[in-house]
Amino acid sequence: MNDRIVHMLDASPSEDLIQVEGWVRTKRDSKNFCFFEVNDGSSLRSLQVILDKNTSDIAQTINRISTGASVTFTGHLVESPGKNQKVELQASDVILHGEAPADTYPLQKKRHSLEFLREIAHLRPRTNTISAVARVRNELSYAIHHYFHEKGFVYVHTPIISASDCEGAGEMFQVTTLPLNSLDGSKPIDYSRDFFGKQANLTVSGQLEAEIYALALKNVYTFGPTFRAENSNTARHLAEFWMIEPEMAFCTLEGDMAVAEDFLKHIFTHVLEHCEEDMAFFTKWVQKGVAEGLQQVVEKPFIHLPYTDAVELLHKSPKEFEYPVAWGHDLQSEHEKYLTEEIFKAPVIVTDYPKEIKAFYMKLNDDGKTVRAMDVLVPRLGEIIGGSERESRYDVLSSRLKEQDLREDDYWWYLDLRRYGSVPHAGFGLGFDRVVQYVTGMQNIRDVIPFPRTVHNAEF
Ligand code: 4AD
Ligand code: MG
Repeated sequence: MNDRIVHMLDASPSEDLIQVEGWVRTKRDSKNFCFFEVNDGSSLRSLQVILDKNTSDIAQTINRISTGASVTFTGHLVESPGKNQKVELQASDVILHGEAPADTYPLQKKRHSLEFLREIAHLRPRTNTISAVARVRNELSYAIHHYFHEKGFVYVHTPIISASDCEGAGEMFQVTTLPLNSLDGSKPIDYSRDFFGKQANLTVSGQLEAEIYALALKNVYTFGPTFRAENSNTARHLAEFWMIEPEMAFCTLEGDMAVAEDFLKHIFTHVLEHCEEDMAFFTKWVQKGVAEGLQQVVEKPFIHLPYTDAVELLHKSPKEFEYPVAWGHDLQSEHEKYLTEEIFKAPVIVTDYPKEIKAFYMKLNDDGKTVRAMDVLVPRLGEIIGGSERESRYDVLSSRLKEQDLREDDYWWYLDLRRYGSVPHAGFGLGFDRVVQYVTGMQNIRDVIPFPRTVHNAEF
C-alpha cells in the first residue's frame, strides 16, 4: 500500500522513487510539461505533479488523462518553486487506470450546487465539501467511541429489528414477510403467520434495550442506525439516521445533563484539534465563524432552563412566531433557535417538559404534570439531544403506559426491570447526523450522510 497524499505534502524532498495514487482534479499543459493536481481524499489539498511530455512512450497516455481520471504517478518529491506547496512530484512515469471522458464526467472544475451533487451521490465524495464532511464525520465517530471507552462505558449492540415502539409515536417501518396484498386492510392481519410470529419494526431507538444493559453493567452506550417513518421533509430530518444513546444506572437528570455537556464539549474539541484544515474550509465556504463558534461553546457552561420558563421567555419576546407558543405544546424549531441564538447565544438545556408531549418512560415530577426530560438545543439547528431520567417506579410506569394507550403485555420485560433491582437511571440520544451538521455548518442534513433516506428518496 502506498502512502497517502496528505503525508507526502508535508514530507521533505527526496531522491527516493515513490508512487502517488489518486484522481486528477486539474490538468494544465505547457510546451514541454504537463501539470496535474492529484487528490486521494486524504486531505483537501492536492499534490502537484509535473510530467515531462517529451518522454515519447507516455505522450499518448497523457492525452487521455483528464479531470476525474484515476492515475498512479511514479517520481520523486522535489522542492516546489510555487508558494502554495512545499513539495511537488517530478514524475517519470504514469499509469492511467480509468479515464473520465470530459464530455460526460459531471464533476468539472466549476462549483456545483449541493442539490445537484445529491443527484450524483456516487460521485460527490470526490468534491471538496463532501470529502471534508466524510473526514469530519469519521473523526466525530472516533471521538464518540473514545470518550465513552475512556469513561468505562460498555458499547452495546441493540437490535435493529424490534417489536416495541420506544418513542410510542407510531412512526415505524414495518418488517414483514407476509404477502403485501394481505396487508391491504380488508381483513385483520394474522401476525402469527409472519416471520417473527408477531408484528416487528425497524427500531426507532435502542434505548429500552440499552436500559436492560445499564441495569447490569451500570454505564453503557449504543451507536447505531435508527429509522423513523416521519413525514417531515425538513433540512434536519432523515428516515434513516444514526444515534448515540448512553444510559447510566444510579444517575438522575442532573448527572445526565452533566454527561451530555461534557460529552459534546469533548467531541467538539476533538474536531477542532484534529480537523483544522477541514474546519477552516467550512468556515470559509460553508458557514462563517463555525470553528470559532464551536470554540466558544466549548468554553462556556450550557444554560439550564425549565420548559415553563422557556415558554414564558418566548411569550415575552417581541418576535412574531409562525407557530404561537403555548404551555403544553412542543417547542418548534423557530422557538429553539430563538432561545439559543437570540436570547442566550449558547446551547440551552430545556428540562421538565409537559408529560403529554414526551414519551411514556420519562420520570414523572411531583407536580404530576411535567417529566424529567431534557433536550439540548444548539444555535443554528435546535434540538440535537433528547434525553431524560427514566421512570424507575413500577406503579407510576404502569399507569403512564395506560395513559398513553400502550399495552403492558408488550412491555413486560421493561416493567420487570422496575420489579427487580430498580434504580434511578437516565440517558439521552444524540442525533449523529445532526451533530455532523452542527459541527460543519452544513445547511442540509442530506449532505452530511453519504446516502440520505428521506420521503420518496432511497436512491443508491
Ligand atoms: O429525541 P429523540 O426522539 O429521543 C430518543 O429517541 C430517545 N430514545 C433517546 C434516549 O433518551 N436514549 O431522538 C434523539 C435525537 C434527537 O435529539 C435528534 O438529534 C435525533 O435523535 N433525531 C433525528 N435525527 C435525524 N432525523 C430524524 N428524523 C431524527 N429524529 C430524531
Ligand atoms: Mg426529541
